[in-house]
Amino acid sequence: MCGITGYIGTREAWPILIEGLRRLEYRGYDSAGAALVNNGSLSVYKAKGKVADLESAAADKDRSGTAGIAHTRWATHGEPNTANAHPHLSPSGRLAIVHNGIIENYATIKSRLRQEGYEFKSTTDTEVLVYLIEYLMQKHGKGLLEAVQSALAEVVGAYAIALADRDDPDMLIAARKSSPLVIGIGDGEFYIASDVSPIAGCTDKVVYMEDGEIAIMRRGEPLKIVDLKNVECRHEVRPVPENIGLAGKDGFAHFMLKEIHEQPDCIIDCMRGRVDGPLGTVRLSAVTENKERLSAARRFVIVACGTSWHAGLIGKQYIETFCHVPVEVAYASEFRYSNPVIDSSDVVIAISQSGETADTLAAIELAKSKGAFIYGICNVVGSSIARATDTGSYIHVGPEIGVASTKAFTGQVAVLLLLALNLAEAMGTMKPETYHATVKALMEIPDKMREVLKSDKVIAGLSRTFTYAHNFIYLGRGFSYPVALEGALKLKEISYIHAEGYPAAEMKHGPIALIDAEMPVVFIATKNAMYEKVLSNVQEIKARKGRVLAVVTAGDKVVSSIADDVLEVPETLECLEPLIVSIPLQLLAYHIAVCKGKDVDRPRNLAKSVTVE
Ligand code: M6R
Repeated sequence: MCGITGYIGTREAWPILIEGLRRLEYRGYDSAGAALVNNGSLSVYKAKGKVADLESAAADKDRSGTAGIAHTRWATHGEPNTANAHPHLSPSGRLAIVHNGIIENYATIKSRLRQEGYEFKSTTDTEVLVYLIEYLMQKHGKGLLEAVQSALAEVVGAYAIALADRDDPDMLIAARKSSPLVIGIGDGEFYIASDVSPIAGCTDKVVYMEDGEIAIMRRGEPLKIVDLKNVECRHEVRPVPENIGLAGKDGFAHFMLKEIHEQPDCIIDCMRGRVDGPLGTVRLSAVTENKERLSAARRFVIVACGTSWHAGLIGKQYIETFCHVPVEVAYASEFRYSNPVIDSSDVVIAISQSGETADTLAAIELAKSKGAFIYGICNVVGSSIARATDTGSYIHVGPEIGVASTKAFTGQVAVLLLLALNLAEAMGTMKPETYHATVKALMEIPDKMREVLKSDKVIAGLSRTFTYAHNFIYLGRGFSYPVALEGALKLKEISYIHAEGYPAAEMKHGPIALIDAEMPVVFIATKNAMYEKVLSNVQEIKARKGRVLAVVTAGDKVVSSIADDVLEVPETLECLEPLIVSIPLQLLAYHIAVCKGKDVDRPRNLAKSVTVE
């Protein structure tokens, strides 16, 4: 995680760096810092807490300088405090570094440098790297670039770094391996950032750095990129993708609430140009362009993490039901170490909102090395995963700022549905009438989502009655089981209440022992093929005095007469229910967290983009 910004040019760097950090704060927010190069000195400011705390800490200090680097941190090595905040200085104070990633062999290097007499001021892996660079300059007579190349060749792990040199104020250096980094090219100026958002609005030219590349940004000279062996790398200058910038809350109390309410429009954007309403058909360009490869797949393997993994569980049901091809869903973090049996007959679907999740990227690289074809489903345009895949479809839900994923989840489910429908039609595995009926029903989803969103205030009121709870159980079956998992994840992420999701029928095999009058159990009990079975499960909970909150189909009388509380959703096809049932669960988690006074958009210990293993 962590967010990096940098600037060198003719303008004052501080406001550019701070604005950039604000846009990257979703990546981490336990401490922040900046280093400004000015008149042969490096001014370093740091603060524990958020970017606003850094601004306050530096408010009465000299913040002048036309070059600098800055960082917002999500701690990996060392607790979040000022000493561990970036930038870190080299022993002489000549170099300042900011880093996103993990140097895995930092302990070995640190003990070697200690034997050379170096003393460290922080407990971070990053400080070890800048010490190593200066050590190579001082003890081995290397120039800065050469020392950076040697140091990066020695370190094991992931990094995106930016470096400033007090003795060379006209240059910044940046490098990447497995952590994202983007360079913006302006008129006589350069920007460095972990993603495009700080650069949007400053320049429309960006270069996405590739693994193993080092960028040298010297005032008045063109961008130069070399590799660790100093061979010059060609780089492509691309336009900044549209719709990037600092999203506002548009009058909502939190980004999360705004993003929950955006979902009807997101689904429309997601379908735009892909779904032909009058014909009742779906066309994804990635499927059109790779029809033979995708139709020939002997198996699909979905790799993802967190919420994206939950979307993958729903995608499995779509592809298996509509296309009759087996699908496996793997946690990307487990896949990469599980010696997966995979070959060129497999298609791997990688799902990631950010497109930067380190575990998912590593899973893609492994699958690629075994010859699999990779289909990406991402939100962030131009992200590392989007670029690493063979083909793919964006979910087009716009920037998601709230750390708890909401609109990206429904966007991912919608794209997985479009993919399965398009493929099923191409493969002839779905009855035409079922295919057209599903497309038509999908087109009604945005209006049905709007209907569900009207219960926001009711859910807010209900949420107040749940703040006592220390545990929650979420139950669902079939398509609703992954929705139950997702509902539980939302609650624990932002309210810090322990919550578990289970397939409803699995309850009696153990978890039912937890049920008493204190235990809230959220049931997804909509009118579908599983309804009667779920009804029995509801009765089993009520018989043990559990407190049941049921999400039911509008007009339901049976579950409503047994449950303690109900939330109604409009009727739709069973396979489309995840798109609307997830909304009351998102709102429930949101309002419970608000009632408990939690920082909903920036929950403790989390970050939006998990770029470490
Ligand atoms: O950006 P990704 O979709 O790859 O992120 C995966 C998970 O880190 C993410 O879904 C996480 O679980 C969210 N905080 C869920 O709200």
